[in-house]
Formats: sequence, C-alpha cells, structure tokens
Amino acid sequence: MIRTAVVAAVAGHLPPRVVTNHDLALRFDTTDEWIRARTGIARRHHVDPGTTTSDLAARAGRRALENAGEEQADLVVVATTTPDRPCPATAPTVATKLGLTGVAAYDVSAVCTGFLYALHTAATAVQAGAARRALVIGAETFSTLLDPSDRTTGVIFGDGAGAVLLRAGEPGEPGSLESVHLGSDGTMADLITVRGRAAGPDHGDAGPDDPYFRMQGPQVFGAAVRHMTQSTRNVLDELGWSVADIDHLIGHQANNRILHAVTERLGLPAQRALVNIDRVGNTAAASIPLAMAHGHDTGRLRKGQRVVLTAFGGGATWGAAALTWPDLPRL
Ligand code: COA
Repeated sequence: MIRTAVVAAVAGHLPPRVVTNHDLALRFDTTDEWIRARTGIARRHHVDPGTTTSDLAARAGRRALENAGEEQADLVVVATTTPDRPCPATAPTVATKLGLTGVAAYDVSAVCTGFLYALHTAATAVQAGAARRALVIGAETFSTLLDPSDRTTGVIFGDGAGAVLLRAGEPGEPGSLESVHLGSDGTMADLITVRGRAAGPDHGDAGPDDPYFRMQGPQVFGAAVRHMTQSTRNVLDELGWSVADIDHLIGHQANNRILHAVTERLGLPAQRALVNIDRVGNTAAASIPLAMAHGHDTGRLRKGQRVVLTAFGGGATWGAAALTWPDLPRL
C-alpha cells in the first residue's frame, strides 16, 4: 500500500509577554516607524526567564494533538535553533512533557528552514511506515540569543512555537504533502551565526566566545528572496501547478519586504502571501507552523486551497513544500 503523510492538525503557542516596537524604542536607538516600514513588525512575544523552548514546544504540540482529538504520536521532531541546552536534544524532553513515553524523538537544526526540514524527515518516516502519527514542532526562544546592544537583530526576532500533526493517509487526500524541495549552501555559513559553542579555529571576527546571534542583514535579504522564489518554482514545476494556482504562499516570516519581493518575482498577487509577522516577528523555525495556525484559526485557509510553504535560513538552507489544504478540526 502506498502511504502519504497528511496534515491532521495545526496549532501555535506564544508566550504571554508582548514586546511592542515602542518598548524596544526605549531600549535601542530605533523607532516604531522604522521597524514597521523596514520589517512589517509591530510586536513580538518574549519568554520570561525560566521558560524554555521545550515548554513552548510542548504547549503547541499538546494543542495540535487536542485539535486532532488524539492522545498519541509515535514520533516527535523538534526544529529549533535555541534548544534547551546543546546536548541532549530538546525533542525527548518535549515528548516526555507530552506524556509520550518511549517514542522516537530528535531535533533538526536548519535555523529558519528548520520546520521544512523537520516536516520532510517526519513525512518520510510516515510514508515509510516507520511512524503512524508524527508531531513536527518548530519552537524558539530567540530572545535569549540576542545581543542586548544590537538594534538590528533586537527588533526582528520573537519567541513562539508551532506544531503540525502528520498522520498516514492515501495519495491525493487533501492535506498530503505533495512535493518537498530542500537545499543548502555552506559557502553562506557566515551570513547567520552563533559562534559561542563552535569547535575549531575558524571563528571569524566575532571571536570564539561570542554567544550572540549575528546576521548580515542585507545579504540574507537578497539570498532569501532568490532561494524562496526558486524553491517555490521547483515545487510548482514538479506538480505541474502554475503560479496562479497558489491560493496561499506561506513564506518564512523574516521581513514583510522579503515576502513582497518573493510574490513580485513570482508574479503572484501580494495578498496571496499569508502574513502574521506584524504580530509575532521572526520566530525562526516556529515561523511557518505559526503562520499556518494563524491562517487556520482566522479561517483564511480553507479546504481545497493550494498552499506552498517556503523558507530560507542559516546554513544557508532553503526549501519549499506544497499541499492542498485539508478540512481541519477547529476547537
Ligand atoms: N532602527 C533604526 N535604524 C536601524 C535599525 C533599527 N532597528 N537597524 C538598522 N538600522 C539602520 C542601519 O544602521 C543603517 O543605517 P546607516 O544607513 O546609517 O548605516 C540603516 O538602518 C540601513 O541598514 P540596513 O541593514 O541596510 O537596513 P535594511 O533596510 O537592509 O534592513 C534588516 C535591515 C535586518 C531589517 C533587513 O536587512 C532584513 O530583514 N534582512 C533579513 C533578515 C532575516 O531575515 N534574518 C533571519 C534569517 S532568515
């Protein structure tokens, strides 16, 4: 029997503390106008001390299971750049917090593309019959990685988690992942870094002990536009879909201007890009599942619509996936 992996539920969780642009203007030399105009962000959520990535991931995962009316998953994959600690992985902690005793659980590290990489590995396990239900969670506490004196990264990133429950299904069922394309290019490794925990001599200018997240903003911007556009074209080509067939483009919410540039290059009307960056900021690996949950909760994503997910992140890594939106339960 040929199996596919079908999206059975989506859910998000944001920590309660809201940080507005006005709050940040008290901390950095910046303004609400600059942040809105250059990024599209109005507010984001930050964790309070003591709240970990696994806490957020477990909340989103619990909600996804509840939405699907399920108690069990036999695989938990967590995409994160901000694990609870460098070793061991965060996913086993999340599985235990969810009461999923003894299940397979591992982390995936691909920064802002992490969710798509995690989705791909989990979907492959479901298709191969190695798992019947898989929780794929993107979760980040990025606020803990930010240099308190760097206004560029300080205004962009937020914390949160999003989860998708995959189940085994049949080819052609709404919700089946129909095409996934992933890519990477290590020559762009220096565009996005946290060097503090790296081993080896090649630490660059920031020094071996720099514990903070660093990015080369304008270079990341250009590469993100190029690769998100090309990845989207790759999945369209594989499926024989045209750009006009896309009802919703759910791009990684890095910067609203990046999303605009991608839709413009594709020739897709701008309103077909699903946008929630205004309320959550850039939540890295949590970004796409949070946007999916936002689209579902607001009723924007409806059964039968064609959806393309696409992201670019550190590594550099990039990718896209396509599905026809299923009839998902709403609690
Ligand atoms: N408030 C006010 N001014 C700021 C600022 C802030 N928060 N951050 C940067 N600036 C200033 C810069 O110092 C610079 O000033 P100068 O011209 O006097 O030197 C000016 O704004 C323009 O800087 P630049 O970096 O060219 O701005 P930009 O328009 O490219 O926007 C980013 C900066 C970071 C918003 C943008 O490059 C971006 O979004 N990049 C992608 C980031 C990303 O997606 N990262 C996650 C990985 S996918």
